Amino acid sequence: MYNALVIGASGGIGIAMTELLLKQGIHVIASVREHRINKFEQLNTLKSDYKSQLILISMDVSTQESVEKAFSSISGHTNKLHLVINCTGLLHNSKGLQPEKRLEDINADNLSQSFAINSIGPLLIARYALPLLRHEKRSVLSNISARVGSISDNRAGGWYAYRAAKAAQNMITKTLAIELNRRSPNTICVGLHPGTVNTELSKPFQRNLKPGQLTTAEQSADYLYKVITELEQKDSGKVFAWDGSEILP
Ligand SMILES: NC(=O)c1ccc[n+]([C@@H]2O[C@H](COP(=O)([O-])OP(=O)(O)OC[C@H]3O[C@@H](n4cnc5c(N)ncnc54)[C@H](OP(=O)(O)O)[C@@H]3O)[C@@H](O)[C@H]2O)c1
Repeated sequence: MYNALVIGASGGIGIAMTELLLKQGIHVIASVREHRINKFEQLNTLKSDYKSQLILISMDVSTQESVEKAFSSISGHTNKLHLVINCTGLLHNSKGLQPEKRLEDINADNLSQSFAINSIGPLLIARYALPLLRHEKRSVLSNISARVGSISDNRAGGWYAYRAAKAAQNMITKTLAIELNRRSPNTICVGLHPGTVNTELSKPFQRNLKPGQLTTAEQSADYLYKVITELEQKDSGKVFAWDGSEILP
């Protein structure tokens, strides 16, 4: 049996990835935050269609207690995961957190929140996922990153919190790859850039896109799944875009 864990299944890419994996016949554990459990129609529909092939749990990646509790519940369902894909992320919210245009927009609480979700969350997930990923078969630990987290590709500036938190996530991915190579040699750890995808996260920033630049979440999930299936051990620690090209740090 092939088991996948999708974290952030209430997001645009998360729900598309959950559906794609279920259609492949994969057993999926999907996590959402407590406030969305049983309140997200698309996931409820998948649950009634796929029944025991889909297990729903709650996880808030910004608190260690919640991540630990979620993994203890996952361990009650399975002792092996073959794929973890973390689709959580934060760029803006309805409480005034917006990507910064200039220094005067800097707010320490917003920076902390961005780092909690975009960088510390992925590390907490790795901390508790390791025992389930360490087995004789290939396993993949992936976090959705973003091209704007590449330091060498930063031409436009701005978006301090999101850029820096995704860059930190990419460093965590590399550091994890080194430790996992020793402790869980069949695990490949990568970051994935999904493209510019039509979701709540990108909605406020879609005005100046080039024609054809915006993809659907379903297309993006398809591309990312192809990248995931083709990953090899030598790829561990790197960040890949939706088309399989490597994004340099
Ligand atoms: N869309 C794009 O163009 C684009 C481009 C580059 C990178 N990305 C990355 O792709 C990933 C998925 O984003 P998306 O476009 O699908 O955005 P989205 O629809 O806004 O989804 C974001 C997800 O993150 C979850 N989340 C936020 N804070 C959380 C927390 N503390 N604990 C657990 N879950 C939390 C949200 O849960 P709630 O429903 O509970 O809020 C939601 O499920 C993110 O990492 C994003 O940075 C997206």
